[in-house]
Amino acid sequence: MDAQHVEGDLAHVLLTEDQIHTRIKELATQIDADYAGRDLLLVGVLKGAIMVMADLARSLERSTDMDWMAVSSYGSGTTSSGVVRILKDLELDLTGRNVLVVEDILDSGLTLSWLLKNLTSRGTESVEVFTLLRKPDAMKVRIDPRYVGFDIPNEFVVGYGLDYDQKYRNLRCVGTLAPHIYT
Ligand code: PRP
Repeated sequence: MDAQHVEGDLAHVLLTEDQIHTRIKELATQIDADYAGRDLLLVGVLKGAIMVMADLARSLERSTDMDWMAVSSYGSGTTSSGVVRILKDLELDLTGRNVLVVEDILDSGLTLSWLLKNLTSRGTESVEVFTLLRKPDAMKVRIDPRYVGFDIPNEFVVGYGLDYDQKYRNLRCVGTLAPHIYT
């Protein structure tokens, strides 16, 4: 789905599909170099990370294992509750693995803060974070992702995996939601 198909719902397009793909390819090149000769396991955080996981994994020039976790922190609102629940756990054993957590957005940081503690307690060799988007002005806890696609303003964004009330995930770009949709 393109922005034109939901034009009235968006205040503006923040990142085009081309901008997103170009940046993911740049970061994939870095990851190829950083993990050369080492095991790599991408852990995607459902559901928001589905698009970035698919594009990042295919941009790598190496084989990588992939697994998925589903956690819940938001419900249907627009702000983080800080309450994290595991809805689906990983299937792979993390002992001795180099884990790269793949996220669509780092907002308050509450989800990742909890997730990083959880994953490192499983005997990993290393745990790093890739996030496509980061909102520096929304951070409540300090997280230092190794790979960041874009720093964005503290506005409600949808598309490329990101939803509002489960909608707009299949939008190709990332757009700022028009306030009349959520007020
Ligand atoms: C989003 C996003 C992150 C989290 C970030 O997930 O995918 O996991 O919120 O927010 P935080 O930094 O404030 O904790 P969400 O709970 O909306 O679920 P979803 O991925 O299924 O849309």
